[in-house]
Amino acid sequence: MPETLSSPAPAKVNLVLEVTGRRADGYHEIDTVLHTLALADTVTLRLEPRPLAPGVPRVRVTGPFAAGCPTGESNLAWRAAAHLAAALGRDPAGLSIELDKQIPAAAGLGGGASDAATALHLASQIWPEARDDVLLDAANATGSDEAFFLAGGAARATGRGDHVTSLPPLPAHGVVLFVPPFTIERKTARMFEALGHLPFDPGGVARAFATRPPACFRSEDVYNAFERVAFDLFPALAGLWQDLERRTSRAVRLAGAGPTLFWIGPGAERESVARAARGAACTVIATCTAESQWRR
Ligand code: C5P
Repeated sequence: MPETLSSPAPAKVNLVLEVTGRRADGYHEIDTVLHTLALADTVTLRLEPRPLAPGVPRVRVTGPFAAGCPTGESNLAWRAAAHLAAALGRDPAGLSIELDKQIPAAAGLGGGASDAATALHLASQIWPEARDDVLLDAANATGSDEAFFLAGGAARATGRGDHVTSLPPLPAHGVVLFVPPFTIERKTARMFEALGHLPFDPGGVARAFATRPPACFRSEDVYNAFERVAFDLFPALAGLWQDLERRTSRAVRLAGAGPTLFWIGPGAERESVARAARGAACTVIATCTAESQWRR
């Protein structure tokens, strides 16, 4: 009998994202505060007792944001599972993954990294010798945000994003995501490259947040270093940003490496913000911060 396991894989927003320097390995030093959202993909892992027949896809993607999400062995969830199998000496020949994409892909919301971490979490239930340190290594071999998603909730991440310290989650906040109909190839790498022409952040904002996590947080409190270069890479974003702030009478901010914009604030304001944005040239998704760490 095949083993089949499913789990939600939540989206995230960065409440603080400082880029403090360039590293010798080509990555950048960051200091960031991340928070998972209620919006989530569903990851289903299936292990057949024998290898999949030739031509049977390793990764199947369904759901409203399936378009643009890689299928096959370049998919981050598959890559994470393959890293784990290699570390454990397990054969992944009978493994397949299904992703129900509710999180827009390549939008700055961490969907791919979250799917990857969730695939690791599920694989560790099938392969019980996968201890936390092995999962962390497989997460970091896959990408920089994956370590955060192993636990989710709220956390400060430093280094290239791989040193994660959990924080108390915010009390429930409303979040409205504004997802533009465009993105670009190699987006995250290009955003970091674009910052190379500017002074790096002095640091201190994420540390201050972590030292005294606020009970109440609004879009105006967000700091995101990528906002300084977002219009260079996404020229059409400037008009959308202005239009959203005019329609909603609220500040909206860049989510991660973009191009999604978002509002965060009191839950009671969420529906009116989402309603006011209707008609803007983007997909509007109303959600909220996840109230607890979801795995531990
Ligand atoms: O780690 P991930 O694959 O998500 O990152 C994509 C790209 O973004 C990296 O190849 C690198 O160019 C850039 N990056 C960086 N510094 C980080 C994280 C990512 O320069 N801390």
